[in-house]
Amino acid sequence: MELTALESQFQELETPFYYYDIDLLRKTLVEVNKNIAGRPFQVHYAVKANVNTRLLVEIKNQGFGADCVSGNEVKRALEVGFPKEHIVFAGVGKTDKELQYGLENEIFAFNVESLQELQVLDELSGSMGKQSRYALRLNPNVDAGTHEYITTGKRDNKFGITFDEVREALPIIRELKNTSFIGIHFHIGSQISDISKFRDLCLKINDIHDFLAAEGFELPHINVGGGLGINYEDPINEPIPDFRTYFDLFERELKLRSGQTLHFELGRSLVGQCGSLISRVLYNKPGEGTNFLILDAGMTELLRPALYKAYHYVQNLSRVDNPSTYDVVGPICETSDAFARRIQLPESSRGDIIALRSTGAYAEVMSSRYNLREIAPSVFSDDLK
Ligand code: LLP
Repeated sequence: MELTALESQFQELETPFYYYDIDLLRKTLVEVNKNIAGRPFQVHYAVKANVNTRLLVEIKNQGFGADCVSGNEVKRALEVGFPKEHIVFAGVGKTDKELQYGLENEIFAFNVESLQELQVLDELSGSMGKQSRYALRLNPNVDAGTHEYITTGKRDNKFGITFDEVREALPIIRELKNTSFIGIHFHIGSQISDISKFRDLCLKINDIHDFLAAEGFELPHINVGGGLGINYEDPINEPIPDFRTYFDLFERELKLRSGQTLHFELGRSLVGQCGSLISRVLYNKPGEGTNFLILDAGMTELLRPALYKAYHYVQNLSRVDNPSTYDVVGPICETSDAFARRIQLPESSRGDIIALRSTGAYAEVMSSRYNLREIAPSVFSDDLK
């Protein structure tokens, strides 16, 4: 349902809050499942994008696995009911306690990011009498063409190990007794809108895959991470990303061997568009060549604009006419607490409901209590009248 139709219901609620359109989430998940059906593809939802239990239950019910990056994310995934054999655990800095938690719960695999971590995993597995499984996260040195803070697959990024290091480490890898090498893992970045970057990734994977096969490693799993971008400029007309082109590309470009499964770790593309941050105009204030529209939501509820200069479509749900120029800002004592500068909005007044769109991913999870603000609640479409 278009958000403008909900304006009067939103007016009755205390703002700000995160609104989730469960129907859109379901449609998005169905679209993914339609495109992977009949292919040896498996999608693990990147839990870090949104850990809201209500969303996790929907995602689990549609058969997705969980990609976690902390012990607490693994715990949340297990609590919600993701099967342990569909949980993977990634991250450059897993503590011993977190590794032990994953081992105790016999999760499917660890995505290991350094040789030192691999040795620690092997030791801990041995001391706990467990046989664990791991995928090596490799750094393919591919530029994802996205914001530098969310680029992860270049040589100077902290993630994964280089192809040269893998070649040198093969003798060590062959010796480990308590953990089994089951796959290779990659993730080149997030909010990738140039799909050809994934082709660059596939070419690199094919090379290292051939090399490892020639060395005698038969790896049942290849994991290409996540990163598919969403349309922040026009969420109304493109609520569901083009999954077809995305999955077709991997089918075409990546050389899978028989019996292998291709894993994906999609976060933003599954949940990004189903969320909106709903706020109210507190004040109008004239500024230099602009007007400040001061909202009751700020960088504490949506950090992305302040952190990455990210754009979110701003929509006044209470009015449509008389466009005027605004800087849409939050109430926090920081100049970076601004959502949009010099944008056109219908002439807006105190009390109007403003939606900041596409906040299903990396908004609620990145919220903070800076300025001792309250944590904003969530409202779900199917709980409204
Ligand atoms: N797999 C790994 C290993 C990752 O590091 C990530 C995201 C994903 C999967 C999921 O990527 P996605 O499909 O969501 O692009 N806070 C930033 C995004 C950080 C992404 C971190 N890693 C933002 O607000 O844009």
